[in-house]
Amino acid sequence: MAARGVGMLARLPLCAQRGQVLRPTHRLLSCPGPVAADLKREEQSSRNVETGSEDKIPKKKFSEVQKERREQAQRTVLIHCPSKISEKKFLKYLSQHGPISNHFFYESFGLYAVVEFCQKESITSLQNVTRTPSMDTEAAIPFKSRFFNVKMKNPSNQTSEQPCIRCSNHTPPSSKKLSELLCYAESIDDQLNTLLKEFQLTEEDIKLRYLTCSLIEDLAAAYFQDCTVRPFGSSVNSFGKLGCDLDMFLDLGEIGKFNTNKTSGNFLMEFQVKNVSSERIATQKILSVIGECLDHFGPGCVGVQKILNARCPLVRFSHQASGFQCDLTTNNGIALKSSELLYIYGALDSRVRALVFCIRCWARAHSLTSSIPGSWITNFSLTMMVIFFLQRRSPPILPTLDYLKTLAEDKCIIEGHNCTFVSDLNRIKPSGNTETLESLLKEFFEYFGNFAFNKNSINIRQGREQNKPESSPLHIQNPFETSLNISKNVNQSQLQKFVDLARESAWILSQEDKDRPSPSSNRPWGLATLLLPSVVNSVSLAKKKRKKPASERIKNLLESIKSSSPENDTNTNGKRTVSTQA
Ligand code: GTP
Ligand code: MG
Repeated sequence: MAARGVGMLARLPLCAQRGQVLRPTHRLLSCPGPVAADLKREEQSSRNVETGSEDKIPKKKFSEVQKERREQAQRTVLIHCPSKISEKKFLKYLSQHGPISNHFFYESFGLYAVVEFCQKESITSLQNVTRTPSMDTEAAIPFKSRFFNVKMKNPSNQTSEQPCIRCSNHTPPSSKKLSELLCYAESIDDQLNTLLKEFQLTEEDIKLRYLTCSLIEDLAAAYFQDCTVRPFGSSVNSFGKLGCDLDMFLDLGEIGKFNTNKTSGNFLMEFQVKNVSSERIATQKILSVIGECLDHFGPGCVGVQKILNARCPLVRFSHQASGFQCDLTTNNGIALKSSELLYIYGALDSRVRALVFCIRCWARAHSLTSSIPGSWITNFSLTMMVIFFLQRRSPPILPTLDYLKTLAEDKCIIEGHNCTFVSDLNRIKPSGNTETLESLLKEFFEYFGNFAFNKNSINIRQGREQNKPESSPLHIQNPFETSLNISKNVNQSQLQKFVDLARESAWILSQEDKDRPSPSSNRPWGLATLLLPSVVNSVSLAKKKRKKPASERIKNLLESIKSSSPENDTNTNGKRTVSTQA
């Protein structure tokens, strides 16, 4: 489940190579009746939640968004197309099977079309006229999925008069483009919102994520009828950056549940099943067989790795056509609940997502996070830190999890853990806090640049610092499995790097008012400076050069330790001075 976002200025050229940067094509074709209207409404509404805009439209519950997008994905097919295809003729051809409600094209080592029919039956009709390819040297496994390949019978008479197909873009802006956008912004608040707009998942990218899950679900259903494969993590919690991995959850829950309503009479029917000695072994066996299935029969699924001995066993693979790095897990209901919780926090106030995106981009730009598992901070932990920080503002911008629990409609217990919290966003009162993003960003860096990591734990359930129950350098309490630390992997040197960078960044932002260049100078400022590793490093170097002699620094440090009491660790400037050593 490691992040693989490419959302940092320094690495952007890599993803810019992947395809043309063109504006999204997102067209609603003729689809009379309620489906099209629903689609429009849903898109309007989900965009409101996804962008956190606070207007009067009621915000949708996480489960409602999931259900609608899932249903939408089930009516959708993925088609690999020749690059010179005529869009008009292609759509006309497909419309023989039923009306199309939506479609878009994208490029990922070839041209692909995502075509959403108004009815599911259209897909069966299309499958019925589709053949399994015959090959000269290789043998095809005749697996009939919703992923097709279309060929032109007479390429010459199909291309001539057609304009070039416009592709939806799901890569972030190039380093140069982002730098320009940030430089031309009017304020740091404007810069944060620009960053969010440029890096957040597009409507098409979200659709493709749900479609990919739906295609994998078709495969898994060959073994486990009625199973569901749902996206979780940053693909759905509203904090996903373009290029982030696709976390999938194979839910067999419905199958296991005994529905008393369906039974009548004097007998109780049970399936004959095989038993294994533990839940973990069952999970490993299920994932093992699904991994084999993806490897052997999954169209476009490559590089399948079965990582079954991890704390949370998973199957990792690349879905070539969508370009997503996928992590499939099962028996992981708490992670889905965490996604819902983050979605709620992201939708409550428009500043939340802007700040989280900024911190995620900042951390990536300075290699605080990585796509490789290791002792670094994860995006999930960073998001928790932002949420915690926003709970600590006065007045708070975000409520505590304990407060959300008091508003809950129903009780929710998963694997013995209390995961109860409100799901209806409209029951939560908006915050009266009016701080600007610029001020919050600066304060975030100040807060964590001086946080007593050596003794305190971050706890979003209670929204206050607590004594660390164990000695890991960074302790962020898992909100549901409260005895666990979600950042147990982080070592002291990575934490120290985070703290140093936070302090440098706070310092850079505090200089901003003095240093802001004129818009015409085209010089990086504000966020653009923070996201350039070289600038922060050079500031750090310059500051180091100006540092007082070591003897003086040690004397000052001793004095500050003497003057700071455990209860109140602020100095006369109101700045926290506690050391971060564990
Ligand atoms: P990116 O993939 O980096 O964009 O963020 P992400 O939130 O998707 O993180 P990741 O893919 O690493 O993990 C997916 C989800 O698994 C998270 O959103 C959490 O819900 C859950 N998760 C990740 N790490 C932990 C952890 O240490 N403890 C628990 N309980 N859940 C975790
Ligand atoms: Mg993820």
